Amino acid sequence: MATINENFLKLESSYLFSTIAKKVNAYKEANPDKKIIRLGIGDVTQPLAPAVIEAMHKAVDELSTESTFRGYGPEQGYDFLRKAIAENDFIKRGININIDEVFVNDGAKSDTGNIGDIFSTDNIVCLTDPVYPVYMDSNTMAGRKIIYSPCNAENNFVAALPKEHVDIIYLCYPNNPTGTVITRDQLKKWVDYALANQAIILYDAAYEAYIQEENIPHSIYEIEGAKKCAIEFHSYSKTAGFTGVRCGYTIVPKELDTLRSLWLRRQTTKFNGTSYIQQRAAEAIYSEEGKKQVKKTIQYYMENARLMRETFASMGFDVYGGVNAPYIWIKVPEVAQEGVSSSWSFFDKLLTLANVVGTPGVGFGAAGEGYFRFTAFGKREDCIEALERIKAVKDLL
Ligand code: MLT
Repeated sequence: MATINENFLKLESSYLFSTIAKKVNAYKEANPDKKIIRLGIGDVTQPLAPAVIEAMHKAVDELSTESTFRGYGPEQGYDFLRKAIAENDFIKRGININIDEVFVNDGAKSDTGNIGDIFSTDNIVCLTDPVYPVYMDSNTMAGRKIIYSPCNAENNFVAALPKEHVDIIYLCYPNNPTGTVITRDQLKKWVDYALANQAIILYDAAYEAYIQEENIPHSIYEIEGAKKCAIEFHSYSKTAGFTGVRCGYTIVPKELDTLRSLWLRRQTTKFNGTSYIQQRAAEAIYSEEGKKQVKKTIQYYMENARLMRETFASMGFDVYGGVNAPYIWIKVPEVAQEGVSSSWSFFDKLLTLANVVGTPGVGFGAAGEGYFRFTAFGKREDCIEALERIKAVKDLL
């Protein structure tokens, strides 16, 4: 008899953003006349950069003639993209990354979830809390022990190093969901911990393109010794609006040669590469025009973030994030009733009173209780209208 992986039974019955979508759809069905503004899931709203569109059209044309047609590509990505990544995202920043350390994928979610395949299930995992649910769910599926390092206003959203021994550490900076960042000195402490404890850091840099301030690390490899202990994940979803296109990459450094070989082995078996069209699209964001166009869109979202930060602060909320990241994290009023979550209560009130959707902080982990996340990826007019609606019902929230 085929038996199931019982670890799946330990998961929440549905993925956070699916639960939210179900609630919103039920409300919409019951109230078809209401215009709902969605600032929940971090999905982009601005069209792709013209340079990207042009590259995709060209790639499609190439596939239409026998002489330029391509079938299966290399599982780890075409060299033209791996080269553009190594040069633009690393070498220009003084980080020595070779193209065979670059693994192109269909987005950071897949690789941050799949990377566990190359690690033993006995490894103890450390997650900051609140956390992107993929790290928690994928390790729960594998049956690994997880310990949490809480991040909240009391510790300025800086996670403490684990007190007990851990083998794998997930860090995401700029952080999803809190929108906060890590300094070089703080990140160095994690690298030093990992080196001293022979632990591996899985560093999710999906939001690095949103960093506005100087001196915030864009890559963990800016920290000395990190190539001996860290794997890094990047995504074009947020950088270049590829949430629907799907492309990203993972760096597994040569210094971690066993892990690099295992990851290559894993990918060649289970992954057939990202399409030629997507990879040409990704390459186009590194052209001079592409860089300018992508930057302009990022500035658009960061202006949303500024508006949201300032408006929530003017309403009296404690506001975090939104300076170097497209997420705003606010403290919500406490609900005195026992067993009632302040985060979910705020979600329900916001949906029914203002018809605005956000994400309850507790959905990202226990330490997110009492907080709420808004994405800055909405359209400007929707952000403005949502803020006006929230202002109008503020006293009822
Ligand atoms: C989020 O809203 O946290 C992100 O959109 C999720 C993701 O990138 O998969």
